[in-house]
Amino acid sequence: MSAAALQNKKILLGITGSIAAYKAAFLTRLLIKAGAEVKVLMTPAATQFISPLTLSTLSKHPVFTEVAGAEGWNNHVELGLWADAMVIAPLTAATLGKMAHGICDNMIVAAYLSARCPVFFAPAMDVDMWHHPSTQENIQRLQGFGNHLIPVESGELASGLSGKGRLAEPETILDILHQHFSSEQVLKGKKVLLTAGPTYEAIDPVRFIGNRSSGKMGIALAEQAAALGAAVDLILGPSRLSPKNPNIKVHTVESAREMYEAAIALFPAADIAIMAAAVSDYRPEKYHSQKIKKQGEVPQILLVENPDIAATLGQRKRADQWLVGFALETQDAITNAEKKLKKKNLDLIVVNSLEDVGAGFNHDTNRITIIDQDNNYTNFELKSKKAVAKDVLAAIVHLSETAQRAS
Ligand code: PMT
Repeated sequence: MSAAALQNKKILLGITGSIAAYKAAFLTRLLIKAGAEVKVLMTPAATQFISPLTLSTLSKHPVFTEVAGAEGWNNHVELGLWADAMVIAPLTAATLGKMAHGICDNMIVAAYLSARCPVFFAPAMDVDMWHHPSTQENIQRLQGFGNHLIPVESGELASGLSGKGRLAEPETILDILHQHFSSEQVLKGKKVLLTAGPTYEAIDPVRFIGNRSSGKMGIALAEQAAALGAAVDLILGPSRLSPKNPNIKVHTVESAREMYEAAIALFPAADIAIMAAAVSDYRPEKYHSQKIKKQGEVPQILLVENPDIAATLGQRKRADQWLVGFALETQDAITNAEKKLKKKNLDLIVVNSLEDVGAGFNHDTNRITIIDQDNNYTNFELKSKKAVAKDVLAAIVHLSETAQRAS
């Protein structure tokens, strides 16, 4: 773990109305000692447990408790964009529920909804509140949005009961942030090549054969790879979406053959290639330069096979390159994906099945299984595509680090 990982990092600390709020003062001190800059937000209820003056003195910044107060409007958007990480500790069941459902009636939820940085949340509540299904569902919803849970601890609670629900210790929260910022730039200096979106295979100037891929999964992967420090080449089929990070170079293509040409040209410079595009396996043999008219017999469209991009890269792959494919299945997902992994010489395959609700095309969520060359597989819950992208890149980083240690 790098001791300097938190140096100059901007941390937005949200404190809600729990008896554990006093621990936030210790956390603020630890963060400042580690070199971070801390700005504190509090719900009005939190101010009944610990004084804003304590936190403003420790953080050396004003503390915000209201979206609009006596001093005027507090810019939650600016704070959300300022932060490298947002930490909500302690997080009560009430604010947890609001965050999970976008109920924006306090400064913390307002900043949370505006934040583009990673968000860490450390719940604190009594044991029965913790185990209540609504709490557990809200925790899962927040994780599904890509936020990071800092687990509660077990022990004696303010109510006198004993069990799960204690706020994680400030040292534990600090460690988690340390780990996050240490691993943040693991792909610095690396090149990642991605295919994403659908392909369109033209029949005539008006019609094409396409598919329902939106590009969301591939763009989420590109964003995450760039966030980890990689220089990213994204070969993107026809999609209404585009990535935001300036370290992502977008190569727009339309057909499978255009995607193939771009991938072949870019692959030699890539350290990692991830094939998330839904590439049409076939294209019309003949392109009609004029619109096919509705007259006489129903036209027959003969199809021919497109080149397989992943399989070609699999043949050309060097020992220092990692190649990851996706498998979109509608039945026997694992068996079919294992075959594709071997046939295309992939290092990992990410399986998503249209049998799973909320997975696959166009959804903002996905549910995946990652399979490696030894047929080990890891199942993941349904999550946002952003969170799925993190899991996929973490698996690739883990694979390459394991291989490095073994060599
Ligand atoms: O874009 P979204 O709406 O977010 O949807 C995401 C997704 C469902 C498209 C994505 O998660 C996904 O599963 N992409 C792969 C879809 C696919 O074509 O799977 P496949 O099982 O047919 O192909 C296996 C692998 O070979 C894939 O990595 C594919 O990119 C690659 N392939 C396939 C055919 C071909 N001619 N060239 C290829 O490179």
